[in-house]
Amino acid sequence: MAKITKLEDIVSLCKRRGFIFQSSEIYGGLASCYDYGPLGVELKNSVRAAWWKDAVQMRDDVVGLDCSILMHPMVWKASGHADKFADLIAECKKCNTRTRVDHLTEKAEEAEEEHTKHISLDTAMATAQDLSNKVCPNCGSVGQFTEPMPFKLMFETQMGANIDDSMTMHLRPETAQGIFANFKNVLDTTRIKIPFGIAQIGKSFRNEVTTKAFIFRTREFEQAELEFFCKPGTDEKWYEYWKESRFNWYINLGIKKENLCLRNHDPDELAHYAKACVDVEYKFPFGSGDWQELEGIANRTDYDLRQHQRGIRTLNKWFESDRDLTKIELSKEAEDYQSGPLSYFDDEQKTRYIPYVIEPSAGIDRSTLAFLVDAYDEEEVRGETRNLLRFHPALAPVKVAVFPLVKRDGMPEIAQNIYNDLKKYFNCFYDEKGAVGRRYRRQDEAGTPFCITVDGQTLQDTTVTVRDRDSMDQVRVSTDQLLNHLREKLEV
Ligand code: GAP
Repeated sequence: MAKITKLEDIVSLCKRRGFIFQSSEIYGGLASCYDYGPLGVELKNSVRAAWWKDAVQMRDDVVGLDCSILMHPMVWKASGHADKFADLIAECKKCNTRTRVDHLTEKAEEAEEEHTKHISLDTAMATAQDLSNKVCPNCGSVGQFTEPMPFKLMFETQMGANIDDSMTMHLRPETAQGIFANFKNVLDTTRIKIPFGIAQIGKSFRNEVTTKAFIFRTREFEQAELEFFCKPGTDEKWYEYWKESRFNWYINLGIKKENLCLRNHDPDELAHYAKACVDVEYKFPFGSGDWQELEGIANRTDYDLRQHQRGIRTLNKWFESDRDLTKIELSKEAEDYQSGPLSYFDDEQKTRYIPYVIEPSAGIDRSTLAFLVDAYDEEEVRGETRNLLRFHPALAPVKVAVFPLVKRDGMPEIAQNIYNDLKKYFNCFYDEKGAVGRRYRRQDEAGTPFCITVDGQTLQDTTVTVRDRDSMDQVRVSTDQLLNHLREKLEV
């Protein structure tokens, strides 16, 4: 029976094999920031590529973008982040640790099998917060909290060298707003028509109050977001479509069905603009095995484009206030907003409207963690423990490893030639050091789907062995058929 994976096993494997390191480790590390090592960067690149292939490359109705991280301050006023992107926190009077109020547990609360909910700030503020029975996760004191207070999540920085033209900027807390800000540019420069989507992968930053569980929640992370614009009235159909499509993406890349679920948001979790929202959740091995959000899929209605129309009309006020966002309010919405600057002209029906948006929003780091956890396995083979990562071939950091059985009789030269040919097509690794059994084990632990060995028989009939990571079965394949054989198996 497969062993239940613990997060410590994953963290240890990631460090040992060069998937993920603590950031700035030589200086003692920087909390909640991580660096991807040689295998990790290949894995993360593969996760990105798999998302892009599914969301953009394979579709005729989605185009891509890559926007800057720094954006005009008015973007965050219009989107609501400048005023509302905060978590409600409380400080423990005993140890001064601040915790998100929605993360505090009651004294006798059972955490098992819990689906974590992130209630919106509006709901949290509006709901009376009784913290008298809540436990401090740091020192264990009960009911020793200050009054809850909002804590802003956006990182601030200064832009510009001169005092009179420098201004406070924010590192983007989501990639989505770059897409809304470019909606018109994309419409004007492509022939795309509604329904269509704009996709982007990029870094986002949030000064999270509680970071946790390795790369699950960090302050710098990567998002893969798709804003799918559709005609109002067709939004519910597209919402259902994207729910199914995004769920299947994880399953098709090997996540076990029993570890994945869709959870509809309760009304107290819904952001004020969202008509509906569902989380794709994964059963992560933290604590007692919690279901946690991997990705959110939201029906954002026409909120964002309407807000940016108001933002554009507020620009003068921003200049007049000496570029101080706290001193201005967004202009009221124009009565004819449906034909505003970010509206869409439907030339078949000769009407203008603000499209609705369905947004599947995934985390690249978080899905990388889920793929790692789900692929991790340990099994007994001839009295020894074999650690392996059963990655889907599309995600495996190294697709093929090539070995000479021994370092003589011309085997290394033949193996090098095979390696040089194959690396033009996919990521390969050459290894001639140590016993072949150990080399197989190292590749199993890196998640390499196939190992090719040049042996004595190769010298006679030009066949090599191809060993399958999961079954450990070996087949002989002629070298001139090797590329086709691997391409078929790897689906690349
Ligand atoms: N535009 C919508 C949006 O940003 P979100 O639920 O806040 O929605 C979407 O974020 C996804 O981004 C999450 O499901 C998660 O995968 C990832 N994500 C969000 N905050 C994160 C963090 N602090 N660390 C790692 N990933 C994060």
